[in-house]
Amino acid sequence: MTVERLACCPVTPLMPPAMKALSVSMLSADFGRLNEEVELVNAGAADLFHLDVMDGRFVPNISYGFPVIKAIAAKARKPLDAHLMIVEPDRYIESFHALGVAYLSVHYEACIHLNRTLQHIRSMGMKAGVALNPHTPASLLADSLHAADFILIMSVNPGFGGQAFIARSLHKIAALKTLIVRENAATLIEVDGGVATHNAGLLYDAGADILVAGNAIFGADDPLRAMAELKGAGHD
Ligand code: DX5
Ligand code: ZN
Repeated sequence: MTVERLACCPVTPLMPPAMKALSVSMLSADFGRLNEEVELVNAGAADLFHLDVMDGRFVPNISYGFPVIKAIAAKARKPLDAHLMIVEPDRYIESFHALGVAYLSVHYEACIHLNRTLQHIRSMGMKAGVALNPHTPASLLADSLHAADFILIMSVNPGFGGQAFIARSLHKIAALKTLIVRENAATLIEVDGGVATHNAGLLYDAGADILVAGNAIFGADDPLRAMAELKGAGHD
C-alpha cells in the first residue's frame, strides 16, 4: 500500500478481525498443471479454494465451469469458496452444492430476490455470500445482513485476475463493518481483487475476515511464502 493510497483512505479499525483467512483464487493457476496447483494450495497457509465462475454475460469474461471444479474438488483438502459472476445464479445452487462447495456467493447486482436466494443457499447447508461490485454501496445490504454469512467486497471490477486494487474499497470495508456492528450481525467480510502483500495488512486491519488472492500467489516466485505472508499480514 503506497503512502498516497494511505493518505486518501484513512481507516480506523473498529474491532479486531473475527478471523484472518486466505482464499486462493484458482483463476490465476496454470490449468495445464491443475493437480500440482491444487496440491500447492493444500500445502500452503491458505484456508479456502476460491473458484471464480464467469458466464460471459454478468462479466465480459468466461472462466471455467463444472468439470474443472469437479477436478479441483477431487484433490482439494480445504473448503471450496465459489464466487458466481453469473446471471440467474439460482439455477445452479444445487449443482454447486453437489460439487461440494461450502461457501457460495452470488452478486447483489444479479439477484432480484436476494434474500430468497440466500435462504436457498443456506437451506442446502452452504455458507451464503453476497458479492458487491465496486459501484454498489454497502448500505444497500442493511436488510440482507442477517440472511448472509459473508459479504464479498469486489476491490476490482469483476471479470479478470491481476488487476490493480481500487483504493476506495477500504472505505467500503469500514462502512460495511460499521453496518454489521450496528445491525448486531455475525456476517464476515471477504475482499477480492488486487490483494497483495503490500495491502493485505491494511485490509485485515480495516475489518476484512477473508482475503482472496490469485496473482499475488500464482505469480510469485515462491507461492508458499506468498501464502504465508498474506495470511500473516496485519495485527493479531
Ligand atoms: C475477479 C475475481 C477475483 C480474481 C482475483 O473477477 O473475482 O477472484 O481472480 O485475482 P487477483 O488476486 O489476481 O486480483
Ligand atoms: Zn472472486
